[in-house]
Amino acid sequence: MSEIEPRELRDAFGRFMTGVTVVTCLDEAGRPVGFTANSFSSVSLSPPLLLVCPGKFLSSFKAFSACSSFAVSVLSEGQEDIANVFAGYKGDRFARVDHTPNCDGIPLIDGAVASFSCRTHQVMPAGDHSILVGEVREFAQSPGRGLGYSGGQFFSLGLEHKARDPGARKNICGALVEVDGGVLLKASPEGYGLPECVAPDRTSLRVCLRNELQELGMDVELGPVYSVFDDPSQGIHFAYLLAKATHVSLPAGFERIPFSELPGLTFKSAATARMLERFAEEARTRNFNLYLGDAVSGETHQIQERA
Ligand SMILES: Cc1cc2nc3c(=O)[nH]c(=O)nc-3n(C[C@H](O)[C@H](O)[C@H](O)COP(=O)(O)O)c2cc1C
Repeated sequence: MSEIEPRELRDAFGRFMTGVTVVTCLDEAGRPVGFTANSFSSVSLSPPLLLVCPGKFLSSFKAFSACSSFAVSVLSEGQEDIANVFAGYKGDRFARVDHTPNCDGIPLIDGAVASFSCRTHQVMPAGDHSILVGEVREFAQSPGRGLGYSGGQFFSLGLEHKARDPGARKNICGALVEVDGGVLLKASPEGYGLPECVAPDRTSLRVCLRNELQELGMDVELGPVYSVFDDPSQGIHFAYLLAKATHVSLPAGFERIPFSELPGLTFKSAATARMLERFAEEARTRNFNLYLGDAVSGETHQIQERA
């Protein structure tokens, strides 16, 4: 049997489409804790059981291993920001998200399509996670669609339908602006992103981006296109250009991140993370390739070689 490469296995697991939940409980001190989880599954109707798998890496792992009750909120379409807060934000997650305490005082996320308040039925160790089985004591549901997750991306069936209408497609154009062995990134609670603009159509991406960068006070020389992809789930067409700053004064909210530090950062989307991981690698050899594809897979084509 060939050796299993964890990253490839994670990608393969990620091809299984799921919904997205936020799992919450109270820690020993009675403080609410929570994390985003797509390992949720219904288990049994009689008795009413569900499960979720908290990872040992979670700062709240101890709380979930010891809790006598917990809750699961199934996020609805449009609640990607909440999923990102409960997946990455390191401060007080509950201060950022509207919630309501359940019968045990455990927060339920407002606007969720379903919520389940559970008494802990069983906790089983399972490799680098545990399997937390809950007996449902109370539940609620509301009309509307749940948020989807597949291949490291959120998706919404509603937007998916809209995306079939070409008129609904949005064009986002961004730049990988190089400054002194680093790249300009915009920090946000959801993770780092690139300077971007929304262009009215695909014929004016460069003009729109140049204007946007100038408004931010960046003088840049726009280079070749580096990455072009569609995200049908959001109905967005993305195009990113290589760029070099000719005048550097960091606009508010932007940081210069050295290439070597890019692989360790949290980005606001999996597609941005993959693009910057490739950029960091290619910047070492100055051998850049153009990516053409969608937000999950595509092909690269060599565009230039620089000394
Ligand atoms: C869509 C999605 C699904 C996730 N599912 C799980 C999961 O099932 N179990 C888990 O332990 N972590 C999961 N995570 C990762 C955790 O949400 C993340 O590591 C956690 O919020 C970090 O919390 P901490 O900073 O308190 O350690 C998922 C993240 C995302 C974006």
